[in-house]
Amino acid sequence: MEMGVLREKMVFLFTILLIMQRGDGQLVENFYSSTCPNVESIVNRVVSTKFSQTFITIPATLRLFFHDCFIEGCDASVLIQSPNGDAEKDAPDNLSLAGDGFDTVVQAKQAVEAQCPGVVSCADILAIAARDVVVLAGGAPFSVELGRRDGLVSRASSVKGNLPEPTFNLDELNQMFAKHGLSQIDMIALSGAHTLGFSHCDRLANRIYSFSSSSPVDPSLDPAYAQQLMQSCPRNVDPQIAINMDPVTPRTFDNMYYQNLVAGKGLFTSDQVLFTDASSQPTVNDFARNPLDFNAAFATAMRKLGRIYLVPSKVISNLLLVSFPSSSFPFIRHNQANGPSFNVELGCRDGLNSDRSHVPENIPDPPFDLTQLNPNFARKNLTQFNIIASQEHRLWAYLIAPTLPIAFK
Ligand code: HEM
Repeated sequence: MEMGVLREKMVFLFTILLIMQRGDGQLVENFYSSTCPNVESIVNRVVSTKFSQTFITIPATLRLFFHDCFIEGCDASVLIQSPNGDAEKDAPDNLSLAGDGFDTVVQAKQAVEAQCPGVVSCADILAIAARDVVVLAGGAPFSVELGRRDGLVSRASSVKGNLPEPTFNLDELNQMFAKHGLSQIDMIALSGAHTLGFSHCDRLANRIYSFSSSSPVDPSLDPAYAQQLMQSCPRNVDPQIAINMDPVTPRTFDNMYYQNLVAGKGLFTSDQVLFTDASSQPTVNDFARNPLDFNAAFATAMRKLGRIYLVPSKVISNLLLVSFPSSSFPFIRHNQANGPSFNVELGCRDGLNSDRSHVPENIPDPPFDLTQLNPNFARKNLTQFNIIASQEHRLWAYLIAPTLPIAFK
């Protein structure tokens, strides 16, 4: 068989093997039961301490989770810092994400690392923390599915057009949520998160000063509430000024948001439209009257939000790209010493552990014979054939490349 054809076949087989081995993408409640059984209590402890220092922990963490999940899935890519200021967190829509949300995840990650190094993803920590802040604010408990891996890509350009705007109407809201498999009921339930937290005045100014040529104030606003908003957000107010989104119980996670909508006290057009549009009004009325219905729908919708998870498919598509070198994937080629050229798969994450005691058992000793070499390499999924190729530095060496990611756990 010709070398090129053989190589492509081998790479393809290894690719399939890798995909099967990973088998991830499936989130489960007890994902860390054997590797980090206390993860939820560790995160909960950190979130509670942070909350005792500042209430902003609560809305900040909940909104951070939403913004992470809507952009490329719940992969914690919203946390990534870019020296060029071009990561998701640098996008205009994300500049108002409060720092206490980021800080909550960083502190929880540190606490989790101290007990379970290198095991739990930031994406899972954020999902747990988002549930915990809801409960701390008086919301009903719900279980969180885990097993996400952190994303490695974070682009500001992915954000534009992928987060809902406060000026959206019902169709626009439904379309955006439907792209992530979320129904109108999920969308209405998740909007109930606006029972907590703050908004900057510029996000609602159009509703009180320049709604239309015939009516500067949005007629769907309760007149007394409109006056209250004008007092809190006078024209040309300092852009830093933020007001409570729920004017009645701003620090409690309850169904007051829906009661406010019924009373014409929705802060954004995207809030109030849920009541003014006849097709969503029955759900708003139900949630306003029955807190248990709202709690159940919110828990369901949060779990669905948490399933927006694209990392495995990204990993798999990278692997497939590696199988087809003609693609545009930016390969690094090593042929400086006239050795064979081969593709290098990218995307491994840096370890957080470095323990010298792990070295002797993993690196083969020069006096090793074949019976000692074989099990040593087999533990890394490398065959006797691979050992021989690496020893002799023959053309076959590139066949090892596709197997290496298996050794990265
Ligand atoms: C339905 C469409 C949504 C729109 C148009 C929207 C828009 C906004 C806007 C404009 C703000 C004010 C930001 C600022 O000025 O600082 C805000 C705040 C907030 N949003 Fe949303 N949002 C939506 C859905 C959600 C969802 C689904 C969640 C969570 C599940 C959420 C959670 C929050 C929280 C907690 C805050 C307060 C943040 C803080 O106090 O730091 N929002 N949202």
